[in-house]
Amino acid sequence: MKPFVVLFATLACVSLAACDRQPASTVAPPAMPAAATPGAAKPLPSISGRPGKSAIASSHGLATEAGFEVLAKGGNAFDAAIAVGAVLAVVEPQSSGIGGGGFFLLHRAADGRDVFLDAREAAPAASHSALWADADGKLDRDKSINGPLSAGIPGEPAAYDWLAKHYGKLPLSESLAPAIRIAREGFPLYPRFVRAIGMRKPVIERWPAGRQLFLADGEIPAEGSRWRNPDLAATLERIAASGAAGFYEGEFAARLVDAVSAAGGIWTREDLAAYAVREREPVVVDYRGWRIVTSPPPSSGGVALAEMLNILSGYDLERRSRVERVHLTIEAMRRAYRDRAEYLGDPDFVSMPIAELTSPLYAAGLRASIHPAKATPSDALPGYMSPAEGEHTTHYSIMDADGNLAAVTKTVNLTLGSGFVVEGTGFVLNNEMDDFALLPGQPNAFGLVGGEANAPKAGRRPLSSMTPSFVIGADRVGVSGTPGGSRIITMVLEGILAWIDGDAPQEVVARRRYHHQYLPDVVSAEPEAFTREEAKALGDMGHIVNTGERTWGLMNMVGWNLRTGEVGAGSDPREPMSRADTR
Ligand code: DON
Repeated sequence: MKPFVVLFATLACVSLAACDRQPASTVAPPAMPAAATPGAAKPLPSISGRPGKSAIASSHGLATEAGFEVLAKGGNAFDAAIAVGAVLAVVEPQSSGIGGGGFFLLHRAADGRDVFLDAREAAPAASHSALWADADGKLDRDKSINGPLSAGIPGEPAAYDWLAKHYGKLPLSESLAPAIRIAREGFPLYPRFVRAIGMRKPVIERWPAGRQLFLADGEIPAEGSRWRNPDLAATLERIAASGAAGFYEGEFAARLVDAVSAAGGIWTREDLAAYAVREREPVVVDYRGWRIVTSPPPSSGGVALAEMLNILSGYDLERRSRVERVHLTIEAMRRAYRDRAEYLGDPDFVSMPIAELTSPLYAAGLRASIHPAKATPSDALPGYMSPAEGEHTTHYSIMDADGNLAAVTKTVNLTLGSGFVVEGTGFVLNNEMDDFALLPGQPNAFGLVGGEANAPKAGRRPLSSMTPSFVIGADRVGVSGTPGGSRIITMVLEGILAWIDGDAPQEVVARRRYHHQYLPDVVSAEPEAFTREEAKALGDMGHIVNTGERTWGLMNMVGWNLRTGEVGAGSDPREPMSRADTR
């Protein structure tokens, strides 16, 4: 079936099914009065002027500091994006690194260009579903998340080379210098890192190089002990000297391929040599006159965000009570998450109804199916299983004094990726192959089921939730994102709404979060996200609210008030090592 046809079938279904499933007294919910979207006819705001100050927020103080160090040397936000990213690769390898990939959303002040740099991992040419199946044809989870068969061809080294050549002002030798220094001199181990090693120890200890890198005499190293990684310093020096070629070609590439093959992986030297970053047009959403610039496929984030914002743009949220607002937002989340993985994949291989999914007309149809005071049961919408994901990955936000912006979300997928280290390299390989629908209809580590659009095929990039975003209004510019698997998209949505409400970056990142992802049909809430009365009112509307013990996300944001000139930065208080600053 063509996606276009599926889409309209879905739209009809969504409305009718939702109406059909309401209790008899509320059949055919009245559509909420849709406010005209202000600003629809006006050009969307653009960024002008220069902040005169820089701002950086990341999940580790050493990375934030490295960004400022490179700015002080004459670098711009894009050089700082390399420096911060590379230091995170050293100090936060549980979340991202040279063996992984990511998305870099950039705004270049000189010409106002917004670009999305896709450095997502790619499937090796030999990929085909049967490789990840067990004898009974079921997904072999061990192969899909542990060891080199779970690893895609990394994108991060290519991204640094590309950024330095096309957007930065400094050579890689300068922007990578802080990471090389810290890898060599070491840093104190902090609780989240130590926990990650503990969690992945059974996998790490399968191969000697990982054991040697992460364990101390076979044991989990102590918090506060100094952790050095001279092998990673040497790998980064190689990239500093030879650029991407130092990683993807020659002797180093041969070393990677030999070790991967010996441990059961399928990488070839041709796979490495063929890897290239892609520049893509960001998704742009008009939300009540604000210009939201965000992530296109192979991220599912921007399309889902567009769908949710388009639905919400029909309501005057600021005039409604908190409970009404939360209800409408949950209903928007429910509908966008249903569509999220149904249609999306790597745009270089799959044709997708992006224009339709992100169109205000489609959203109007979805909005009409929302009852103002009753939850729509998710099973009243056409079926699709959505994932529940963990919280690795990392996001950082940067603005330089000239107004260049970088929002970067990068990952090795699960904690410490595949757990596999090639001897002498100092980094883990990702386990991003598990983000593919490796076997049709069989859930991945996050419970995600997918089909052909996200099947593992030579050179394809797996569907992602990472959603680095800019939020641009007439007087304020925000740069934001977060890790958190499928929760990334709802966190970014709530952050955008908070920023538009007038919160400062530190308030935005600290806000208590809630999340709905269609299935399971439950609103997850952080402690204190709702008052007792709010939770009861939502329950009375038919929402199943599950306020758990745990918090989620690690959002890092910077912002600029174009009117007052004020520059701000906020780092997530949920992670003590995170740090935001302006200079
Ligand atoms: O790209 C993705 O969506 C995932 N590989 C991100 C993984 C993630 O955020 C891990 N934990 N939350």
